[in-house]
Amino acid sequence: MQQQQQHSFVYGGDYNPEQWPEAVWAEDVRLMREAHVNRVTVGVFSWSSLEPEEGRYDFGWLDRVMDLMHANGIGVVLATPTASPPPWFTFAHPEALPVTADGVRLVHGSRDTYSPAAPAYRDAARRIAGALAERYGRHPALTMWHVHNEYGTVSYGPETDRAFRVWLADRYGDVATLNNTWNSAFWSQSYSTFEHILAPQATQYLPNPAHLLDFKRFSADTLRDALREQVQVVRAASPGVPVTTNFMLPSWNHYDQWDFAAEIDEVSIDHYPSARDIEGETHVAFGADLARSFNQGRPWVLMEQATSLIYDYAAARLFAKEPGRLARNTLQYLARGSTGSLFFQWRSPRVGAEFFHSPMVPHVGEDSRVFREIVALGHTLTSLAEIAEPPAGGRRVNDTRVAIVWDATAWWASETRAMPSNDLAFLPAVRAVHRALWWQGINADVVSLEQDLSGYDLVLVPNKIAASDAEAAALRAFVDAGGHAAIWFFSGSTDENLNVRPGGFSGAFAPLAGIRVEEHHPLAADESIELSDGSRADAWAEDLQVTGAEVLATFTHAPLAGRPAITRNRVGAGTVHYLATRLDAAALGGHLARIVAAAGVTPDHPQAGDGVEIVRRYSGPRSYLFVFNHGERPRTVSLNGYDLLTDEHLSGDIELAPAASMVLRESALPASPPRP
Ligand code: GAL
Repeated sequence: MQQQQQHSFVYGGDYNPEQWPEAVWAEDVRLMREAHVNRVTVGVFSWSSLEPEEGRYDFGWLDRVMDLMHANGIGVVLATPTASPPPWFTFAHPEALPVTADGVRLVHGSRDTYSPAAPAYRDAARRIAGALAERYGRHPALTMWHVHNEYGTVSYGPETDRAFRVWLADRYGDVATLNNTWNSAFWSQSYSTFEHILAPQATQYLPNPAHLLDFKRFSADTLRDALREQVQVVRAASPGVPVTTNFMLPSWNHYDQWDFAAEIDEVSIDHYPSARDIEGETHVAFGADLARSFNQGRPWVLMEQATSLIYDYAAARLFAKEPGRLARNTLQYLARGSTGSLFFQWRSPRVGAEFFHSPMVPHVGEDSRVFREIVALGHTLTSLAEIAEPPAGGRRVNDTRVAIVWDATAWWASETRAMPSNDLAFLPAVRAVHRALWWQGINADVVSLEQDLSGYDLVLVPNKIAASDAEAAALRAFVDAGGHAAIWFFSGSTDENLNVRPGGFSGAFAPLAGIRVEEHHPLAADESIELSDGSRADAWAEDLQVTGAEVLATFTHAPLAGRPAITRNRVGAGTVHYLATRLDAAALGGHLARIVAAAGVTPDHPQAGDGVEIVRRYSGPRSYLFVFNHGERPRTVSLNGYDLLTDEHLSGDIELAPAASMVLRESALPASPPRP
């Protein structure tokens, strides 16, 4: 008889026993057991405790921690500590320290003080990863490798210059091709040899945007190579043990998430929403949808979140999460595919950077609201264990018929300066679209135009400044096959090397949209305009002619009064909308609702939206409906299923109090077929 596989959600956090006397470890284990903790992430930033001098290792403490965890049924996510070289590294390899764009060499004292392109750093990183892999690669407590922490260090300086030149030579072959692609002749910057090219450190006035973009690509590739080296090392020592590296989402753009995801077995993310109101809940959904998308629709790992405090970096304040919100947010992540929840961190240090960052065990100890909520959440996750099973039959963990294009090149391009407006930023544009969909109860993936789009009904393209011919062709093929698309202003105005496409802006997509964009009319920072349909907008306008599209709304302000602002082109069974301005939230919501409806996309539940979040997750052969009321007033929703949180069958119109959460096992799987 085949034994039934037991599934469970992962629950725990970053654990730094090396910062505590061993007497505290026993206390930790007692509290972990009380809280149903089954996973700890050990070793992140522990380099100086593991290799106190170059080449001299101290594994004694980690041996004891691994054994202790194993003896208590707690799995270990073992991190390579390479995000924080020890002080000896500064003295042994001064050339491998990071240099800022202003030419300042940084030294140890915090974390991430290394130049990722420097051979001495890469060697040291490979060595410590190899030593860990050799020692613990087959330890029974090991459940996952966690390479590095939040790759994202960018460095300039001589070591970087050398590697950048090699990268450029590889990309362009000869310097004439580079000069041509960058148009280096502008301001007399043509290079006679690759040897004269520097990473774009501080210069007198505007740098060349193509140079900046290639440097971002180079930096991203450098980090990917550093990741790849370590992945190879740990994989070789522990066949079958999954490898991850934690993505800092959504604001970290120092690498291409699609590239990184291809290097690892499981995508994991660190996620720290900063808003105190319902905007925080939209942010949770965004982070989770990104993670699931980067993991190709499969369950993904929430490597870090915070327990009681939300960082508001702008206000430099650590705000408390109100009671119950931690659990509700965690269930949101679960709804959208997380394999559980890990936190930064298990226990607050008594001093050290981030000593007031919220942990699972706060300074005040177990007699605290936070720890009581942690215990309750551990219990909840245990009771939901059946949902931890991966979906059967190749299904994705959530149904998503809408995809938003996520593209590192576009993001980098929008940050190169010298653009016609400061309001062309990539991430806020993507966020605005995702948020507007969330308010309508529509789940979305992010996608690259290089991926298979055939599983989607609607592809949205906000602020994708740079687009290659292949990407333009991919979107056309999607629409030709009956797909629907919406494209935002300025998208596709340049090719992948930031060279403007001649003959009309948005040139990569304009023929598909049935338009020609002749001139930009960016708006002033405090300017707001109204369109003929009453929509309000700001930031951007452009002089647009239709070459096949119909006009849905026009500008009403001079000199563009009467000119098209929103258009729709019918292409076979598909449609392509073009939005030539930045709509405010209400107008964006209204237009997206029509676009979504035209594409035939519906929410997971007809009453989802307007602050009621309802998401279906597939697990094993079953489906589960996660239901939340994030609003401030009670809402009535018609439901049918078994609520795993209260152990009761619910049927009919159910009132959801503000902040209510439900997790329903549905009676039958909904009919929609698995994705191709
Ligand atoms: C993460 C990081 C952790 C900790 C945390 C604080 O980005 O990986 O080490 O710094 O932020 O929010």
